[in-house]
Amino acid sequence: SSDGSTEKEKTLAMVKPDGVSGNHTDGIKNVILESGFSICREMIVHLSEESVALFYAEHASKSFFPSLVRYMTSGPVLVMVLEKENAIADWRSLIGPTDALKAKVTHPHSIRAMCGLDAEKNCVHGSDSPQSAEREILFFFKEMSSGRVGTKHDEL
Ligand code: TYD
Ligand code: MG
Repeated sequence: SSDGSTEKEKTLAMVKPDGVSGNHTDGIKNVILESGFSICREMIVHLSEESVALFYAEHASKSFFPSLVRYMTSGPVLVMVLEKENAIADWRSLIGPTDALKAKVTHPHSIRAMCGLDAEKNCVHGSDSPQSAEREILFFFKEMSSGRVGTKHDEL
């Protein structure tokens, strides 16, 4: 539309190590497709400590960071680029709150409630803003430039 409200948007989704090892990948992909997203790109990758530290650079000073790096390098993850209208906010809403234990109470139908284990092993990731989506998509799929100039990926 002329106001841009129906333009498609891309976001980065990830099934984290507990989601892959817990065999939640197929179920999550079904939810993604049933919710109207298309999966533009997908890749299975076993992240290095250096990659996790870059991906989660904003959390480097947090007390949970060393444990987060151990967890995120503990097995393969599935990264996907999802596309639809309002993809960023809609995927965040589908995955639910960060702490899967709290999600089980407050958002019982969310993916983190159904498949996650706790505040760390929460099964899935989703970009939290257009800036994050741009940075995170380029982090894994370097050729997928949207044409916008990112602010952070140039440092990677
Ligand atoms: P954060 O960006 O706050 O959450 P989200 O994934 O919902 O955007 O945190 C990034 C990840 O760090 C989170 O998915 C799991 C981990 N984490 C912990 O292990 N403990 C915590 O207390 C928090 C807040 C996050
Ligand atoms: Mg976050």
